[in-house]
Amino acid sequence: MQRRRVAVLISGRGSNMAALIEATKDRDFPAEIVLVLSNRPDAGGLATAQANNIATAVVDHKTYGKDRAAFEQALQAELVKHRIELICLAGFMRLLTPWFVGQWRERMLNIHPALLPSFKGLDTHQRALDTGVKLHGATVHFVVPEMDSGPIIAQGAVAVRDDDTEATLAARVIAVEHRIYPLALRLVAAGRVRVENGRCRIDGSNGPDAAFIAPTLRL
Ligand code: GRF
Repeated sequence: MQRRRVAVLISGRGSNMAALIEATKDRDFPAEIVLVLSNRPDAGGLATAQANNIATAVVDHKTYGKDRAAFEQALQAELVKHRIELICLAGFMRLLTPWFVGQWRERMLNIHPALLPSFKGLDTHQRALDTGVKLHGATVHFVVPEMDSGPIIAQGAVAVRDDDTEATLAARVIAVEHRIYPLALRLVAAGRVRVENGRCRIDGSNGPDAAFIAPTLRL
């Protein structure tokens, strides 16, 4: 089996990156992480990648000032150098231009800490609490030029509890993220995801029969 060569792009602690690294240690996984790239030299995830003997690179956006095109050309050069086939954005806090996104159409995944299309953008957990939704979660999707949009590959839901704080809700959502990102990468790398009319069709999958209802009552 030819494993797809993946770059994970980070800006911070990289816990999703770590989950992807763990999952891809399985020799049967259809992808391998060959590069971790950060736009911040101080990203905590870089050390985790190095500890796992994965090549790292830093393309510091500050060096490029307002020149987004030059920043993205530098990113692209690193990706080409490492013969990257798929990109996973994992807490990568830079908006990407249509040019860059176009280079990686249906080959670049992102994870967002909400059930898209609800709660695009930042502070998703607090906004979910403020809105009073009973179900919240996370989404892995293909990247398109509009932020936090694009065909949805996988989602995971958690119940929101009356006593949740932003921190307790975030903790349950991140645990779901660490499960759905490896799942989504596995499906894409294995060629099991087809995009039709902006929607992902997954070969050989059924939605689970169970409905997920919140709240549940204590009797
Ligand atoms: C995650 O919540 C992810 O959904 C969002 O940024 C956060 C990154 O966390 N895009 P980590 O660096 O993967 O721990």
